[in-house]
Amino acid sequence: MKEVILTGIKPTNDIHIGNYLGAIKPAIKFVKENPNTDFYYFIADYHALTSMRDPESFNHYVYSVAATWLACGLDPKRCVIYRQSDIPEVFELNWLLACMTPKGDMNRAHSYKAILQTNQENKRDLDYGVNMGLYSYPILMAADILLFDTHKVPVGKDQIQHIEIARSIAQRINEVYKDDIFREPQEFINEKTGYIPGLDGRKMSKSYDNGIPLFSTEKKLKKLINKIKTDSTDAEAPKDPDSSLVMDFYKLFARAEAISDLEKRLRKGLGWGYAKQELFEVMNKEIAPQREKYDALMDDKSKIDQILTDGASKARLVAREVLDRVKSKMCHY
Ligand code: TRP
Repeated sequence: MKEVILTGIKPTNDIHIGNYLGAIKPAIKFVKENPNTDFYYFIADYHALTSMRDPESFNHYVYSVAATWLACGLDPKRCVIYRQSDIPEVFELNWLLACMTPKGDMNRAHSYKAILQTNQENKRDLDYGVNMGLYSYPILMAADILLFDTHKVPVGKDQIQHIEIARSIAQRINEVYKDDIFREPQEFINEKTGYIPGLDGRKMSKSYDNGIPLFSTEKKLKKLINKIKTDSTDAEAPKDPDSSLVMDFYKLFARAEAISDLEKRLRKGLGWGYAKQELFEVMNKEIAPQREKYDALMDDKSKIDQILTDGASKARLVAREVLDRVKSKMCHY
């Protein structure tokens, strides 16, 4: 039995450098390094629908996420890439799981509790802004995972509770039916990629609006890099590279020798403007070839359509088999 690794990406924003370094790059490397593992990376568009209301930008983000992964080197021959809404089996399983999930488990989910708290603070009705999709979001996510007999789910720390919920749903059903109906999935956290700062020094995040988009134009990238705050030491005075965001970003892209060389020159008094120019160059060197592929994929979406269609057919073969097994134990006995 091959190991199965699955993860979902919610298409609610354009990918930024933090997503790229923290999730995309390690996930693609992971695929390359594990030829004997089955990978499923999918676009969780129905999860995005819990908050997205504009079909045009919704559609843009779905393609943008797919194009980003492909442009960064994800190989559709090695990893099944599909769109969640193309797999009806997910929603069939969703119902089976929902019937076995206590409402209290959803009441305790962090993201739902965060909304309750905001409503409480603003003295609003506690249910304000909570649709049923959002409320039962963890069940749909459990369906995504359990449908493929997944062993491991690579996710960020904010998603750990969701994997725990998926695991506990699987355990409960196995216990109630006294059978190994579901594989119990584990979260897989990449500890190595640590902290990626945003333009203001806080963690790069869509919600702080401090991100550097992975694929904008060269001009925009340069402009954002120039916006990075530096201390106001005189142009030629020695600089402290250790407390500089410019250097933090540089370290994420440059090689060890280039890093110590730039540090040395900053200590000798290299101006921040020059350091920023070098930062732009090292970032752009990595991003430019991928940007070109991204732009081509976004200009003619037929290639993405083809990959997603193929991915859905492959995924559905496995999904159908697992779902039939589950139904045969739970209802079509
Ligand atoms: N909830 C995840 C996020 O917001 C996206 C997601 C949906 C997911 N289904 C999944 C991740 C299944 C891993 C496995 O990032």
